Amino acid sequence: MLDIQSIETFHGDAQALFGVSFTIAEGEVLALLGRNGMGKSTTVESIAGLLKPRHGTIRFQGQVISGKPAHLVARAGIGLVPEGRRVFPNLSVRENLVATAISRGGEGWTEDRVYDLFPALTKLRDRMAANLSGGEQQMVAVGRALMTNPSLLILDEATEGLAPLIREQIWAAIRQLAVGKLSILVIDKNIESLLTLAHRHVVLEKGTVSWTGTSAQLADGDFRHRILGL
Ligand SMILES: Nc1ncnc2c1ncn2[C@@H]1O[C@H](COP(=O)(O)OP(=O)(O)O)[C@@H](O)[C@H]1O
Ligand SMILES: [Mg+2]
Repeated sequence: MLDIQSIETFHGDAQALFGVSFTIAEGEVLALLGRNGMGKSTTVESIAGLLKPRHGTIRFQGQVISGKPAHLVARAGIGLVPEGRRVFPNLSVRENLVATAISRGGEGWTEDRVYDLFPALTKLRDRMAANLSGGEQQMVAVGRALMTNPSLLILDEATEGLAPLIREQIWAAIRQLAVGKLSILVIDKNIESLLTLAHRHVVLEKGTVSWTGTSAQLADGDFRHRILGL
């Protein structure tokens, strides 16, 4: 479904990715791991069309998407929940959900389906996003991405900085999406949750892929320590 071939991405003159390659299959949940500053966000921003790789190619469902602007990548079926919960603060929950929705015909995501996934949002639908807690804003951010009816959902540190109870509600939603066979690329610091959720893992080290393998391989604590340094 997603095929990333040797991408090199820069921030200005500073090179952040030095030939990153990996693939995601239909219905697969892939975790992108690595310590801070290793290039995880740069990779997902390259996929989502927010950064343009200088070299290499990204194909999505057979179509080259690298170099295309973000709105066309979203239209192609990639939904990004960016790092740092970005919602429209001056819009209500409902307005946030419908603002960037992309209808693809058939049974897609609706506002009500988002409330089924995140029951906590149901009674907040008319509240301004600025007046929500961090966790509630994150639910809106995930809901917004789903309202574009993506075939691939990308979550960049969606549970970062949230209280345990709220974090568990986000994980429950992600697990429900995975059971529903949505393809997911997930970045998160909670390795335990990733081990039960993800089929495969890609480790980034200074802008290159240093290891790729399965949850079963990473379940071994000593091995994980050697691979990740944690
Ligand atoms: N906006 C930016 N401007 C300049 N350098 C950046 C910017 N964003 C990230 N970088 C640099 O790119 C590298 C990779 O960062 P990033 O992709 O954010 O890593 P991660 O998400 O794994 O923490 C780091 O060296 C970081 O300092
Ligand atoms: Mg990051």
